[in-house]
Amino acid sequence: MTVCEYQPGLEGIPAARSKISYVDGQKGILEYQGIPIEQLAAQSNFLETAYLLIWGELPSKAALEDFEQDVRDHRRIKYRIRDMMKCFPESGHPMDALQACAAALGLFYSRRTLDDPDYVWEAVVRILAKIPTMVAAFELMRNGNDPVTPREDLDYASNFLYMLTEREPDPFAAQVFDVCLTLHAEHTINASTFSAMVTASTLTDPYAVVASAVGTLAGPLHGGANEEVISMLDEIGSVENVRPFVEQAIANKQRIMGFGHRVYKVKDPRATILQQLAEQLFEKGGSDPYYEIAVELEKVVEEKLGHKGIYANVDFYSGLVYRYLGIPRDLFTPIFTMARVAGWLAHWKEQLSVNRIFRPTQEYVGVHNVPYVPIEKRS
Ligand code: SDX
Repeated sequence: MTVCEYQPGLEGIPAARSKISYVDGQKGILEYQGIPIEQLAAQSNFLETAYLLIWGELPSKAALEDFEQDVRDHRRIKYRIRDMMKCFPESGHPMDALQACAAALGLFYSRRTLDDPDYVWEAVVRILAKIPTMVAAFELMRNGNDPVTPREDLDYASNFLYMLTEREPDPFAAQVFDVCLTLHAEHTINASTFSAMVTASTLTDPYAVVASAVGTLAGPLHGGANEEVISMLDEIGSVENVRPFVEQAIANKQRIMGFGHRVYKVKDPRATILQQLAEQLFEKGGSDPYYEIAVELEKVVEEKLGHKGIYANVDFYSGLVYRYLGIPRDLFTPIFTMARVAGWLAHWKEQLSVNRIFRPTQEYVGVHNVPYVPIEKRS
């Protein structure tokens, strides 16, 4: 049954009915469960936002404390997963390591009692709690060091930065990092969330759902763009080189990383907030020459491509914040994963509540009734 014309990339085709988040691409609006992202960024924190996304309401003080404690209690990873990481090549990309570890989590926990609320709660807690530990562990191990044990006396963001650097972070840096996680937590039916939903619709386990989504987020057109933005700023090198760089990219029909969006045809509201966070960091800790290049780049791209609805997206300023916090470039997308896993889990739960396996159709443009040619008769 074909109900509509083929749309490349399913552009404009609703793939679900969802209450989790809302985006208005013309007005630059993003809401999580109806709450504007600006309010969550200013007043909430990542774990409270994850609870909101997954269970559909802001938690009471007691419920949030229970959730936060449960996550603290599950931050450690099995030694076998650490041992598995010891076999990974140091040169491997952390997103590939993370995808392998996310799938491996499923080996340790019972599979598919999806109708048991306790199983769902435990899976949500374990995945939220263990992804940061796995990201930090791979970073230390690929540098030849033992991973550090998570600290239960530190909040979610501070503990991750501690596990990554073996030092307690500056409280302001941890708070900025936590806001970045809130901003990256959810964004309706983006490519990786759609992967999660399709995988969830077969009723496999949540660890396989997350592993599927991690592989999708890794691509440079999606979550991998933040890392590419910094490489692009490396290449540009100075404010004077921005305009020639943009003109050359447009002439060569090259994508300028960190710009454009399937839905936003104005500046991504998350980019606006991330830019403000970057400015706060620079005010406190000293300016960053890359920021001047980025601001000039945004100005020139808007001048040249704004008429096509191409503006800065979430990936444009996030890398500058992470770089300023001393986070290695190839960990930017694993950090995106740490945040977006909240959205993936929310859509996993929502998909299970109204499940029908995804199986779209196609427009066949091939041939019919072609005779088989034996190999000895082929040219
Ligand atoms: C994320 O979907 C989500 O919500 C994603 C995300 C989330 O939170 O999950 O917001 C996170 O993935 C943000 C996007 C990060 N990716 C990048 O920054 C990579 C660079 N951006 C592009 O590749 C592109 O903008 C996409 C992939 C993001 C969107 O591509 P579309 O909607 O498929 O747009 P398109 O390829 O049809 O392009 C339309 C036109 C084309 O020009 P014409 O052929 O019509 O002349 O716009 C041009 C494109 O060439 N264009 C760009 C461009 N993006 C689109 N030209 C230069 N630089 C760009 N970045």
